[in-house]
Amino acid sequence: MSIQHYLRFTDLSAEEYGWLFRRAAIIKRRFKAYEKYHPLADRTLAMIFEKASTRTRVSFEAGMYQLGGSVVHLTTGDSQLGRAEPIEDTARVISRMVDLVMIRTFGQDKIERFASHSRVPVINGLTNEFHPCQILADLFTFLEHRGLDADGVPDPAALQGKVVAWVGDGNNMANTWLQAAELLGFTVHLSTPSGYEVDQSVPGVRSCASYKVFKDPKDACRGAHLVTTDVWTSMGYEAENDARRKAFADWCVDSSMMGVASRDALFMHCLPAHRGEEVQADVIDGPQSVVWDEAENRMHVQKALMEYLLLGRVD
Ligand code: CP
Repeated sequence: MSIQHYLRFTDLSAEEYGWLFRRAAIIKRRFKAYEKYHPLADRTLAMIFEKASTRTRVSFEAGMYQLGGSVVHLTTGDSQLGRAEPIEDTARVISRMVDLVMIRTFGQDKIERFASHSRVPVINGLTNEFHPCQILADLFTFLEHRGLDADGVPDPAALQGKVVAWVGDGNNMANTWLQAAELLGFTVHLSTPSGYEVDQSVPGVRSCASYKVFKDPKDACRGAHLVTTDVWTSMGYEAENDARRKAFADWCVDSSMMGVASRDALFMHCLPAHRGEEVQADVIDGPQSVVWDEAENRMHVQKALMEYLLLGRVD
């Protein structure tokens, strides 16, 4: 039987996302009601972190325990990965001992190499190129607020024709938004400083017909249903910090940008945030911001994802 990995947003179909959104809503409701639900009893998740994390670590670890499973946490520094053991050998060994692996690393090639030597499903917890679990949570959060059907169920059809404004770095989040837009039928308005555009060599970027580029970030926000951004300097690019501060100075989401967006526009940020840099405090802490729901939903959607990768569609 072939193994289903989750390395890029495009690894699942639109129909599978519909199922996952519905499933995440059920899992979230059970969690809120303190209902025990242990479909992954005796299953183990290995989490490998080559970069720092708060949300990804806690959401996967708490989520796996809540599903009845257990977790092993590894970092580059406390494993043989930091002493040059080949990623392929690490994959061969770890995947004989656990049921599922989540990796946060640098290049996408590294997680792809790991996955191709793994006996168990591998989940992308962030690479330089993609952050699919975050976009999964962001879309679920959008649907919770703006896309429930008459029965209160998240309905991905509500994404059709919507506009997401991406203000800031052409980074892993921007790339993943483009993959999602193409698959689920919405448009991304991209505004990045010169020199920080999305990389056309990243899979899904050049072929994406679902985005428009704007020089002025305010123009990107005009009429948008969701305005979203990320830090000016992603992990791994710290040496560019000073240059980025100068280049990104006009790419701070403020009330004037939110003011030209759709009247019921939401604001999201994958966090951690730097108030006064990529977003003003009155936006992230204001009434249109759903960043805390967005962060919490990482756990609910990832629980649905882990259940799906290990058990398929269950009731
Ligand atoms: N958004 C996100 O991935 O957060 P962490 O870096 O804290 O995991």
